[in-house]
Amino acid sequence: MCGIFSYCNYLVEKDRKSICEILCNGLSRMEYRGYDSAGIGIDGDKPGEIILFKEVGKVASLRKKIASSDVDTSKTFVSQCSIAHTRWATHGPPSAVNCHPLRSDPKSDFIVVHNGIVTNATSLRLVLQKRGYKFESETDTEAVAILTKYVWDSQPDKRITFTELVKTVLKELEGSFAFVFKSTHYPNEIVVARRGSPLLIGVKTEKKLKVDFVDVEFAGERADGKPDVLSPQSPTGLLAPPTGSKILRTQSRAFMSEDGLPQPIEFFIASDASAIVEHTKRVLYLEDDDIAHIAAGEFHIHRLRRKEDGAQTPSQIASTRSIETLEIELAEIMKGKFDHFMQKEIYEQPESVVNTMRGRVNFDNHSITLGGLRAYLPIIRRGRRIVFIGCGTSYHSCIATRAIFEELTEIPVSVELASDFLDRKTPIFRDDICVFLSQSGETADTILSLRYCLERGALCIGVVNTVGSTISRETHCGVHINAGPEIGVASTKAYTSQYIVLLMMAIQLSEDRISLTERRQQIIDGLHALPGQLKRVLEADKTLQQLASNVLANSRSLLILGRGLQYATCLEGALKIKEISYMHSEGILAGELKHGPLALIDENMPVIIIMTRDSLYPKVQSAFAQITARKAQPIIICNDEDDSVPRDAKAIRVPSTVDCLQGILNIVPLQLLSYHLAIKNGFDVDFPRNLAKSVTTE
Ligand code: AGP
Ligand code: GLU
Repeated sequence: MCGIFSYCNYLVEKDRKSICEILCNGLSRMEYRGYDSAGIGIDGDKPGEIILFKEVGKVASLRKKIASSDVDTSKTFVSQCSIAHTRWATHGPPSAVNCHPLRSDPKSDFIVVHNGIVTNATSLRLVLQKRGYKFESETDTEAVAILTKYVWDSQPDKRITFTELVKTVLKELEGSFAFVFKSTHYPNEIVVARRGSPLLIGVKTEKKLKVDFVDVEFAGERADGKPDVLSPQSPTGLLAPPTGSKILRTQSRAFMSEDGLPQPIEFFIASDASAIVEHTKRVLYLEDDDIAHIAAGEFHIHRLRRKEDGAQTPSQIASTRSIETLEIELAEIMKGKFDHFMQKEIYEQPESVVNTMRGRVNFDNHSITLGGLRAYLPIIRRGRRIVFIGCGTSYHSCIATRAIFEELTEIPVSVELASDFLDRKTPIFRDDICVFLSQSGETADTILSLRYCLERGALCIGVVNTVGSTISRETHCGVHINAGPEIGVASTKAYTSQYIVLLMMAIQLSEDRISLTERRQQIIDGLHALPGQLKRVLEADKTLQQLASNVLANSRSLLILGRGLQYATCLEGALKIKEISYMHSEGILAGELKHGPLALIDENMPVIIIMTRDSLYPKVQSAFAQITARKAQPIIICNDEDDSVPRDAKAIRVPSTVDCLQGILNIVPLQLLSYHLAIKNGFDVDFPRNLAKSVTTE
């Protein structure tokens, strides 16, 4: 998702034009990650002045805005720190005011760029508003900027270090993030922090670095391990921030010059290596909960948590961070280590499902809270029926979750293809609950269906990936799936995230049903294990590649068979194969075999049958018997431990999970298979012929 970039030079003279160039180039290098707006924050002409440039749309438009402004581009800076950002909106639509950097106040005492989501931003906002602070944007990030100012304002002697200030702020935040903070109170300093979103720091010096690591300074300790008397042993939180000193008490050995004199140095901070590699290949990756402070040519790493905290990984606890040498070249990394966006997005799923659940699922007390729906739960529960409406993959996510929705809510659910829903002029009433599924939030048929339902007085709920899109604006309430930007035309990670959102909705709606407690707990435990299981499915990629190139490469058609909860997987798998590899493919409900499709089966017809274990397993086994009796040699998608699958059968094995989650794991091999089939045939995976990412016409 989106990108952070920051540039600090120390004793290296740069004019403002070059600084803006460096920032915009850094952002351009990360454009492939997807974003909706871009901005930078740089030093002004007078001390204590910060200039912000923000623009909706592409980095190119931001460049134009900077070029056409009347700032003095020739002004030079021997040392400075500046920050930049490409935003993928999660809170508040793309607009100049919501674009980053976000400021704490009109004077920009503190400015912040942020990747990720602060899940407790609403309550922070309320607390800060009560204390008289004014908000100008709808973002979660602004609460962080203002909270920083609040902590600063409540310091009687203003002796707190920038790092201690940010530490105090971070302790109040929940969610996932990467941040860079800049302030007029701390000229030529920045503080960088991460929890959940990646960040790395590139270092460029004329002379070779003295050592290839940086010490980590733990709370209350100096880099040399001795207690730091000026930093508090037990920081106290928001209302009584710790006091500290502006004196830098420790020195990072990596940046000490041999002769003890300060040396010219440049730092580049970015969300990924693509933005750094053109400047330097010497980089340091921050770990979760690391806080980096850059000032006066020095670079210090602090940690939020105590050294021996058992919740941390060994690499987080390590007392140093090594400076590594990037092996990659610029051309290789625009899509990260992947060849195509579709492939990257398939591989992102272990992470994107976590982002979908973050701040919503409490795995300890087995509860789910979708904030956007809370106030509407009584109306939804009183609804006469629920109507899911979407197109393509979004429609399939509705089919996938319909059964569990009905089981948990006991409200009848119907699933509609938006175009057909409109064609039929489907009757809709005031007590209907209509749920609109759309990755883009801009699909014409889905929008028209939404307007149709709004006119008829139904409660309209959006389940959308793109914040600020038409569907997210025009619905009464809704849930963002938070899968991050999806660029490949073939929808992959949005499917698994939509699936999870619908499940979470069903669980939340059923929270008052005591009799379903155990079922809900089982599903929530299943959700907990899902990211790890998705990683395991992805490990089978090589086998699927071979299957695509050896077994299926020359086939003209492929049938995908399954039933019950897996019917949606069949439909979605077939859609992926059609749209990317241009091979005819059909998802067939196994229960319908005898009513027609069985006529297609012979030894030449390629078939995939989904036979993961659930209550319908015996029925699928019987479909398997029917097709093998007609000499079909199906590829079987089955569970890891299933030894009733014939030994000589071609099997794709996946971990087993709760029945209603199995479809999330089962779709991944089909996504990969479609990808490899397309590659094998030399097709443009990210931009399949005749298709568009967002279908904005009927
Ligand atoms: C999926 O791979 C397709 N590109 C397509 O079916 C897509 O899901 C459909 O056009 C709906 O788009 P939406 O989710 O943005 O509304
Ligand atoms: N949550 C923040 C916003 O909506 C940051 C989103 C991002 O990662 O770009 O502004």
